[in-house]
Amino acid sequence: MMTTGLEAISFYIPRVYVGLDALAERQGIDPEKFSKGIGQEKIALPGHDEDIVTMAAEAAQLIIDKYGADGIDTVLFATESGIDQSKAAAVYLHRLLKLSPNCRCVELKQACYSATAALQMACSYVARKPDRKVLVIASDVARYDRDSSGEATQGAGAVAMLVSATPKVAEIGAISGLFTEDIMDFWRPNNRRTPLFDGKASTLRYLNALVEAWRDYQSNGGLSFEDFSHFCYHIPFSRMGEKANSHLAKTNGVPVDAQKVLPGLIYNRQVGNCYTGALYLSLASLLDNAEDDLGGSNVGLFSYGSGATGEFFDARILPGYRDHLFTQQQRRMLEERESVSYDNYAALWEEIDLSKGAPEQARGRFRLAGVEDEKRIYVDRNA
Ligand code: CAA
Repeated sequence: MMTTGLEAISFYIPRVYVGLDALAERQGIDPEKFSKGIGQEKIALPGHDEDIVTMAAEAAQLIIDKYGADGIDTVLFATESGIDQSKAAAVYLHRLLKLSPNCRCVELKQACYSATAALQMACSYVARKPDRKVLVIASDVARYDRDSSGEATQGAGAVAMLVSATPKVAEIGAISGLFTEDIMDFWRPNNRRTPLFDGKASTLRYLNALVEAWRDYQSNGGLSFEDFSHFCYHIPFSRMGEKANSHLAKTNGVPVDAQKVLPGLIYNRQVGNCYTGALYLSLASLLDNAEDDLGGSNVGLFSYGSGATGEFFDARILPGYRDHLFTQQQRRMLEERESVSYDNYAALWEEIDLSKGAPEQARGRFRLAGVEDEKRIYVDRNA
């Protein structure tokens, strides 16, 4: 069978963050509730001139600078922070990346799950057209109401994946376990900037979807629990990944091994939730931070999107994968971020009128210059 999967994976995180100690102080609670209870340290904060398109462009440009854009004829943009009800964010991105006009560009939505649908569709497509490549993007801003229980799990970021029939990083397995149920655990009606959610119930529905997807994966002939060196989960907050890891081990009647999940949580702890990108940021974290060379090993991935759809699938990490990562650049990007005070965070959280132009806050190459006549104006500072 044709091998398909990730030729490259990269991410972009905004260069500013607020520490959760500042949030704990403001809320008058023990900071360990955040650092230990939910397992988060920082919330990545986009500037007013950054959004899902600029973050996606930053992440994808890294790949294009290294591999070029030859063969890319499809951009699948997964997000639940859409900027327009009609025009796909992928079309704005397509121009910023200077991709060929002979390209299809669409946006996909199902809460935090849709990047997985995009990845699976991309693999099927390149199996049929092995000379083509697909750029899969997961880009989101996770913003909750201030002083709500979700506030500490906010974050932002984009992950870009180049999918081809010549993968260098990971081969995506053909077997999946699927599960969908119509529930209201987390949703965002069109008139709202922030989501509505039932926090505690959502964590239980997530675990239920994990078990149901795992059972379906098993019944479809998937690998057994012992075949996996590591697992990556959708990470709304890093403790959820630890809970999922324990839950799956107990479901399989095997002892819990935290090391199967911990390397995949390192980046997410420093970023917060980035919705569609959270699972793939966890994969990047595992690839960059696992001490052992993972070449030849199997990683189990669980994708969850509230509402709800879950999918369990596998990736076989390819020998030599480390030569195709952006480990040093991405670590530096996270380390060199600037910490801001609670008041500055609160100012960044508020929506502002962009019709007179956006303040220069983005530190990267791409920015949203403003909104003119209700049209978003994106610029490439290198152009
Ligand atoms: N020191 C150490 N631990 C502490 C502590 C302290 N001082 N105080 C509390 N804790 C622990 C608690 O014991 C608890 O641990 P367990 O989960 O192991 O019981 C943990 O910290 C959290 O405490 P609470 O349950 O009291 O926290 P909370 O009421 O603030 O809610 C939450 C937590 C429900 C996850 C909330 O952050 C939330 O609503 N988040 C948004 C929804 C969400 O992320 N859901 C996840 C599943 S849905 C999904 O995955 C899709 C998505 O991306 C949104």
